[in-house]
Amino acid sequence: MPRRTTRRRFLKAGLAAAAVGGAGYALWPDMGPYRAEADRLRRPLATEPDLHDLVRFATLAPNGHNTQPWHFRLQEARVTILPDPSRRTPVVDPDDHHLCISLGCAGETLALAAAARGRPADLRVEDGASPSVDLALGRGPATESPLFAAIPLRQSTRSDYDGQPVAPADLALMERAARQDGVSLALFTAPADREAILDYVIAGNDAQMDDPAFVTELRGWIRFGPDRALATADGLFSACSGNPALPERLGQLAFGAVFTKEREADRYAGQLRSSAGIAVFTADRTDHAHWVAVGQSFQRFALQATALGIRTAHVNQPVEVPAVREDFARWLGAPGARPDLVVRFGRAPAMPMSLRRPVEAVLA
Ligand SMILES: Cc1cc2nc3c(=O)[nH]c(=O)nc-3n(C[C@H](O)[C@H](O)[C@H](O)COP(=O)(O)O)c2cc1C
Repeated sequence: MPRRTTRRRFLKAGLAAAAVGGAGYALWPDMGPYRAEADRLRRPLATEPDLHDLVRFATLAPNGHNTQPWHFRLQEARVTILPDPSRRTPVVDPDDHHLCISLGCAGETLALAAAARGRPADLRVEDGASPSVDLALGRGPATESPLFAAIPLRQSTRSDYDGQPVAPADLALMERAARQDGVSLALFTAPADREAILDYVIAGNDAQMDDPAFVTELRGWIRFGPDRALATADGLFSACSGNPALPERLGQLAFGAVFTKEREADRYAGQLRSSAGIAVFTADRTDHAHWVAVGQSFQRFALQATALGIRTAHVNQPVEVPAVREDFARWLGAPGARPDLVVRFGRAPAMPMSLRRPVEAVLA
């Protein structure tokens, strides 16, 4: 029955073509809409921005797992940044330490943006049961700093860097930008120190990867495909971590096989060894106000680095696992202290930028 055979062949070919087409789409999702949205979020600030536009800039701040754990309350000449409890990450951040740092990053970003448009901000921190960052906006000369210009360019660059040192003059600028009452910064550039810190990163990573609750929480914030990243406009998009963008379901399936202790440890070894150095931020005290101050200090450090063409990325495992953190504090020569952030820096090409939710979604 030749006709049937021909028809069957045709159907088979059609299905194969559809499958290849499907797989083609599946394996190479279109990044165009994602890039367009990432660029749109980072469009220049208006010359006379309203509070909404200032909030848009503030949300470009770094924040743990990109949960964007904030609400912005707007008044006449005042913006208050409050925590959004629904966006906590209780496993990796049980005491809201990272959350407070994220609020500090957003507050500092808003203050820099407002000052650049002639609205200098008086930033205060309420250290109650629930922290808040209050910015009273005044009137004054517009002060456009290189740090302000770097706000839409900054990113967490989680790739290998070029292995080259950073010039002492640049390090001095980064150190100066990070100056903040109640926060100290230690910079490590010697290879032996980087190796020692790598050991703490790997010890922390091993402990986290052995904790199913940590892995489940992290996985819940990973966005494997650009469509899903666009739909939620939050979380950790895989391409921002140097992993391929996959259709969401394929990424979920591949996760267990790809995300292993050994592979992560290898990745961190390459990343730390190719970095020019590592910055460790430690506050004098362990309260909300000091953690917010760490966020302010870190954000200015990251923006100054960005202005110099230097990338930054967190490697916070040594401060996220309490037992490792204690050993790390002793290694730092500060037994009993609580080191807050570990950030590597160096030069590398840009990676895809992360997304943020629209301003309307973060208003209190
Ligand atoms: C307090 C805090 C902790 C963070 N911890 C990590 C971390 O351990 N590993 C990591 O890769 N990124 C970490 N980040 C970076 C965030 O994931 C990143 O800021 C967020 O995904 C948004 O991306 P962007 O910085 O490129 O804008 C941290 C950021 C903050 C503010």
